[in-house]
Amino acid sequence: MLPVFLRLSHGRVKTNATLGYNGAPRRQTARAEGGQDVKIGVPRETRPGERRVALVADAVKKLVAAGHELLVERGAGLTAGVTDEDYAQAGAKLVSRDEVWAADLVVKVDRPTDDEVAKLRQGQVLVAMLQHLAYPDVAEKLASQGVTAFAMDWMPRITRAQDMDARSSMTTVQGYKAVLAAADLLPRFMPMLMTAAGTISPAHVLIIGAGVAGLQAIATAKRLGAVVEAFDVRPATKEQVESLGARFVAMDLQLERAQDEQGYAVAVGDEVLELERQTLAKRLPHMDAVISTALVPGQRPPVLLTAAMVESMRPGSVIVDLAAAFGGNCELTRAGEVVEHQGVKIVGYTDWESRLAVHASQMYSKNVLNYLNFLLKGGQLNLNLEDELVSFPLITHAGEVRGRKGGQ
Ligand code: NAI
Repeated sequence: MLPVFLRLSHGRVKTNATLGYNGAPRRQTARAEGGQDVKIGVPRETRPGERRVALVADAVKKLVAAGHELLVERGAGLTAGVTDEDYAQAGAKLVSRDEVWAADLVVKVDRPTDDEVAKLRQGQVLVAMLQHLAYPDVAEKLASQGVTAFAMDWMPRITRAQDMDARSSMTTVQGYKAVLAAADLLPRFMPMLMTAAGTISPAHVLIIGAGVAGLQAIATAKRLGAVVEAFDVRPATKEQVESLGARFVAMDLQLERAQDEQGYAVAVGDEVLELERQTLAKRLPHMDAVISTALVPGQRPPVLLTAAMVESMRPGSVIVDLAAAFGGNCELTRAGEVVEHQGVKIVGYTDWESRLAVHASQMYSKNVLNYLNFLLKGGQLNLNLEDELVSFPLITHAGEVRGRKGGQ
């Protein structure tokens, strides 16, 4: 057990607990039991196209009630539907960009840019979706700045962490929006329709990868009335797929070890991938839309859809590749774009959450609130490394990059 008291801004020793930021008298709040309050900063996100905010007004209100001081950068919530007035009413102080980065703990959505890393100082705490396996350089820079950084996208997959698991929240958004994008681009109806002008047959949709995004995609496609099939390398997903009313596409092979102890898929060899492609190739000519979500944390996503397989689909079909940001499940995918190949559209958007910024922010904010309540209980930063809820998402601390694979 390594209990560590949170350092206060700029090495300033806080002697008068009744003084707030910049010495201004603070509103009376219920203080975190037995501890000092923590100054929490919420900057405006700056990555191009990002529309989410890390904390919405409701979460700010709860953190203020718990005794913390909330600094929100002016305009931080506008693209997520939260106004400065909403934050002020929730008890936050609206501040400039420089002031927000001076907080004891900064909460963000995206991994920080170089400019943002430069604003951080030794001993400061950062909570964000760091994507440290895909962007190890950011973790290196945070470590060399002496920042203690926790990854909201790298929670241990245990019951206690479920309401803090931002990766699941965000992939839920992706799965939903991917189906809507496919429905929008398809030159056909999704549901079966019986009209005076004849009967319209329902669209056939194949979901590749039945994790959190895939299961949400199945549910959304079913709600729109499509006939849905799904495929995953983890045999455990068969029951989940069928319970949502979809047909499970089986491969002629039972894998001995398709997932690790956290429930993530492990990378499969070339032979298995080839067998997968053969299995999928049989289904593709019957499909109007394909949503592919196959990921293996820290590795390039498996290529499951070749150009020849795309060519076997009917013109007008749509593929939405949710693995686009990391290289794609389809070899024709281009990140951030929609490409058309022999009449088949391949969607490689990487900003699904920003396309649903209000609810994506609301969900992420709830995950962050739950994690901060755990991490800052009693007004101290919990650095008990024996607790995997601390050690797993702790990516940088004391000048070092930890957790290259999580919890190590
Ligand atoms: P993910 O985003 O890492 O991967 C998406 C899907 O792609 C997974 O279902 C994976 O099996 C599949 N996939 C990987 N390689 C493939 C291949 N070659 N062919 C076909 N499919 C392939 O996974 P996600 O959605 O983040 O979570 C995976 C599982 O973790 C969940 O289904 C669930 O069982 C578990 N989980 C547990 C949680 C908890 O206990 N707190 C929270 C969230 C998920």
